[in-house]
Amino acid sequence: MEQAKLIFRDKEYLLPVHEGSEGEVALDISQLRAQSGAVTYDPGYGNTGACKSSITFIDGDKGILHYRGYPIEELAEKSSFIEVSYLLIHGHLPTVQELEKYKHELVHHSLLHEDMKKMFEGIPSTAHPMGTLATLVAALGAFYDDTTKKSDIDANCIRLMAKMKTIAAFTYKRCIGQPYVYPNNKLSYTADLIHMMYKVPSDQFEVSPLIEEVLDKVLILHADHEQNCSTSTVRMAGSSHANLFATVAAGVGALWGALHGGANQEVLEMLEMIKNDNCDYKKYVNLAKDKNSDFKLMGFGHRVYKNFDPRAKILKASCDKVLAKLGVNDPLLEIAMNLERVALEDPYFVERKLYPNVDFYSGIIYKAIGLPVNMFTVMFALGRVPGWLAQWKEMREEAGQRISRPRQIYTGAVNQKYVPIEQR
Ligand code: SDX
Repeated sequence: MEQAKLIFRDKEYLLPVHEGSEGEVALDISQLRAQSGAVTYDPGYGNTGACKSSITFIDGDKGILHYRGYPIEELAEKSSFIEVSYLLIHGHLPTVQELEKYKHELVHHSLLHEDMKKMFEGIPSTAHPMGTLATLVAALGAFYDDTTKKSDIDANCIRLMAKMKTIAAFTYKRCIGQPYVYPNNKLSYTADLIHMMYKVPSDQFEVSPLIEEVLDKVLILHADHEQNCSTSTVRMAGSSHANLFATVAAGVGALWGALHGGANQEVLEMLEMIKNDNCDYKKYVNLAKDKNSDFKLMGFGHRVYKNFDPRAKILKASCDKVLAKLGVNDPLLEIAMNLERVALEDPYFVERKLYPNVDFYSGIIYKAIGLPVNMFTVMFALGRVPGWLAQWKEMREEAGQRISRPRQIYTGAVNQKYVPIEQR
């Protein structure tokens, strides 16, 4: 095995070098502290490999994203969200029989225990849907055993895939004050999601094939993204062997952040703000460059992609298609395209390799199909469930799996002596 040599305080340390199937290399420091007393320091883990994984590969410089070795462009064009979720969780594309069995299981686990409706009622209807989602996902742990038996793990992965859709739809209905619409077992996963969100009891409802096609593609594009913040949260929480439902709820919480999955809501609010400010997008590009301003161009930049986010490219094409077919002339799309054009020519963004990311166009699509902005990150979470489950399973099934526990560099006070309160 190749080795790297580290010289520290006149002593030499040999670090084994690991090489991945796509040629990525890592210096193994797992014995460094025992040998040298030193730990490594990498705030935000931008240069730290937390695990080996065979699920998703990203090449940020080339704008490449593969799920289990399949290019995202091929899967977005030829596959379906349910087939991609099977690929991510089980590691191979399903046969006809495997896919039919998987779909049957998802359909027959999509109902929530009726007691869960009382939990929805206990949360204010004005609450942010991500808070409701995290609460109800964690609450699933009150209804289902979470053991290390393979049968339970497989059953709970099916339950989470199936019930997250219903929780998301019920959360939306609660937000808009409409009665819940129960799953329709005759519809596909994505068609049923649309049906449960948009059908109102009084009328007949036909799912638009266009909206089903676009939404299914959006879900595929969000399905996994290797060790992003929320997936790393799921791995971290799951490493203590916490309840699977509580572990995924932790991932929902991390995704909610404005710098992560919450960015799709922030993008739409930013575009609305620019529209209401005479569409002066150049003003906001300049604001984003101003170090004295904490304004960021939401939907731009990425820790890994230093080239175009391949998902943004696909979403932009879907954006054009769905707006044209729906006859929607959304000024926000024009503002978005102007922002993209100006930013991609501006040295500030070019030097920092800040390109549109997955969140830049997804919100315009969600808006075009009638979703309120506070539901955008819920849709991101729904897409990310198979990725969270696949990564959690991979972590739990790893030989010798240990609880994650990073180290630190202490910079606080030293040699303190306790002083009684009357002497302070
Ligand atoms: C997702 O990790 C994943 O894979 C995430 C994700 C997934 O699928 O799971 O892809 C989904 O979360 C996409 C990202 C969505 N977030 C946003 O769009 C929020 C806006 N973007 C930024 O907050 C930022 O770009 C991050 C959080 C995405 C990345 O932050 P980093 O890697 O910590 O980079 P940084 O903040 O250190 O920025 C480097 C420089 C800084 O300037 P300098 O200090 O060098 O002068 O670039 C600047 C930043 O100020 N910068 C921006 C900017 N993003 C970075 N300046 C203006 N606008 C921005 N959007």
